Amino acid sequence: MSIVIRGGTVVTAERTFAADVYCENSKIAAIGENLEVPTGAEVLDATGQYIMPGGIDPHTHMQLPFMGTVASEDFYTGTAAGLAGGNTSIIDFVIPAPQQPLMEAYNQWKDWAEKSAADYSFHVAVTWWDESVEEDMGTLVRDHGVNSFKHFMAYKNAIMADDEILVNSFRRCMELGAVPTVHAENGELVFQLQQQMLAKGITGPEGHPLSRPPAVEGEAANRAIRIAQVMNVPIYIVHVSCKESLDAIVRARNEGQRVFGECLAGHLVVDDSVYRNEDFEFAAAHVMSPPFRSSEHQTALWQGLQSGNLQTTATDHCCFCADQKAAGKDDFSKIPNGTAGVEDRMAVLWDQGVNSGRLTMNEFVEVTSANAAKIFNIYPRKGSVSIGADADLVVWDPEGTRTISAKTHHQNIDFNIFEGRTVKGIPSHTLSQGKVVWANGELRAEKGAGKYIHRPAFNPMFDALSKQAERNAPTAVKRKL
Ligand code: URP
Ligand code: ZN
Ligand code: ZN
Repeated sequence: MSIVIRGGTVVTAERTFAADVYCENSKIAAIGENLEVPTGAEVLDATGQYIMPGGIDPHTHMQLPFMGTVASEDFYTGTAAGLAGGNTSIIDFVIPAPQQPLMEAYNQWKDWAEKSAADYSFHVAVTWWDESVEEDMGTLVRDHGVNSFKHFMAYKNAIMADDEILVNSFRRCMELGAVPTVHAENGELVFQLQQQMLAKGITGPEGHPLSRPPAVEGEAANRAIRIAQVMNVPIYIVHVSCKESLDAIVRARNEGQRVFGECLAGHLVVDDSVYRNEDFEFAAAHVMSPPFRSSEHQTALWQGLQSGNLQTTATDHCCFCADQKAAGKDDFSKIPNGTAGVEDRMAVLWDQGVNSGRLTMNEFVEVTSANAAKIFNIYPRKGSVSIGADADLVVWDPEGTRTISAKTHHQNIDFNIFEGRTVKGIPSHTLSQGKVVWANGELRAEKGAGKYIHRPAFNPMFDALSKQAERNAPTAVKRKL
C-alpha cells in the first residue's frame, strides 16, 4: 500500500520546505519536489496545506480505573478521536494498585490497549516499593520497551508515592536508563486542605482549586527536581500548571540540570473561573488535578513554551461523564479528577499558539510531537518527516475552521472544556502507518490497527550524566593514623 502527498509544504521541528511525501509499507520512503512514484499509488492533494508529523500526546489515561470509577474513553474510542484531531500516537499510563505487581498491571493495560486505532506506548507508575518492583522495572525496560516511570506525589491513601519511593525509584531509573516522571502536588497538603475546606462547609467544586493552590504544586515540583538532582537522573514533570512549578524547572535548568516540563492544552486556555460557576455539572466537569489556574499562570505557561523551558504539550485525557462526576455532588474531593482533549490539543495549540504569533510552525511541531519523541527516545521514528520514519502524518489546513463541541466531537465524553471555541487551523487528513484514517471530516479509524511502540532505554543523555557523576564522585579523605 502506497500513497503520495502532493503539492504541500513540509513543516518539521527544524525547517519548512515545499515537497511531496511518498509513503510505502507504513514508512516514509521519499521526500522531494515532483516525486516520481509507482503507478497505482494513491494521490492526496495537499496544495496550500502543511505536512507535519502526527501529534504525540505523551499523557493520556484511556479507560483508567480511578476514584471508584473507570474513565469512559477506551483505547479504541480515545485513539480514534485523537486521529480525528491529527494525533497519531499516545503514551498512556499503566497504574498498578498499591501492592499489585508491576508486570501484572502492565499486562492488563496491554490487553486493554489492543483495540487501539493508533500507535501507543506506556509509562509505568511506581505506586509502592519492594524488591519485586525493582526487579519488574528492570524487566519492563529490558524486555518490554518501557523507558519512563511515573510517580504520583498526590492522591494520598491511593497511589501517592512518598519520598522513600521517589528516592528508590529514581535511583533505579538511573541504573536502567529510564526517565522518572512526576505528577507534582504535595499529597499531604492537598489531603489536609481538603479536610479544612469541607470543615468550613465548602463542599462544591470551588473547593477543588482552594485545596490545591500553586504553592502545593511548586513545593512538590521543587522536591522532585532536587531528589533527581541528588540521584543524578533526568526528570520530566507532567502537567505543569503554574508559575511556581515552572520557576522550579527554570532554576534547575539554569543550573545545568536535565529537567523537562509538559503543559496541557487545557491549562493554557481555560482559567479557574470555571470552578465558581453555579452549575455543579459545569464546574465538576472541569475538576482535574492540578486545577485550572488564573491568567497570570497561563501567561507563564505560554512563556515557558516560548522559552523552551517547557518542551511538550499533552492533554492528560481522562474522561468522566456527568453521572460519574456526580459522585462528588456533596463533597468535591470525591469528584473523579480528569478532563478530555486528545482530539483538540493540536487545533487549540495552533489556533492560540501559531495564529497568535506565540509559536512558529516549527515550534508547534516541536511541542506537539518532536520533543516528546526525543525525550522518550522514539525520534526520528516518530515526530519527524524523514525517510525511514513511520508514516504518521497530518495534513494541516491553516484556513480550515471548526467550532469545538461535545455534540460533534468523537471523544466518548458528554462535555468539552473547549466548548464553543472556533479554532482556525485543522487537520484535513491524518495518516497512521501510511493509511488515511481521517479525511475531511470522515473518520476511518480501525479497531486494533494501532501498534505498541517499544521505547529503548536511554543512551546519550544518561552517558553524559554518568560522566558528570564520575567527575564529581566523592572520595574518602586519607587520614593519618
Ligand atoms: O485530574 C487528573 N489529572 N486525572 C488523571 C490522573 C492524573 O493526575 O494525571
Ligand atoms: Zn496527574
Ligand atoms: Zn494524568
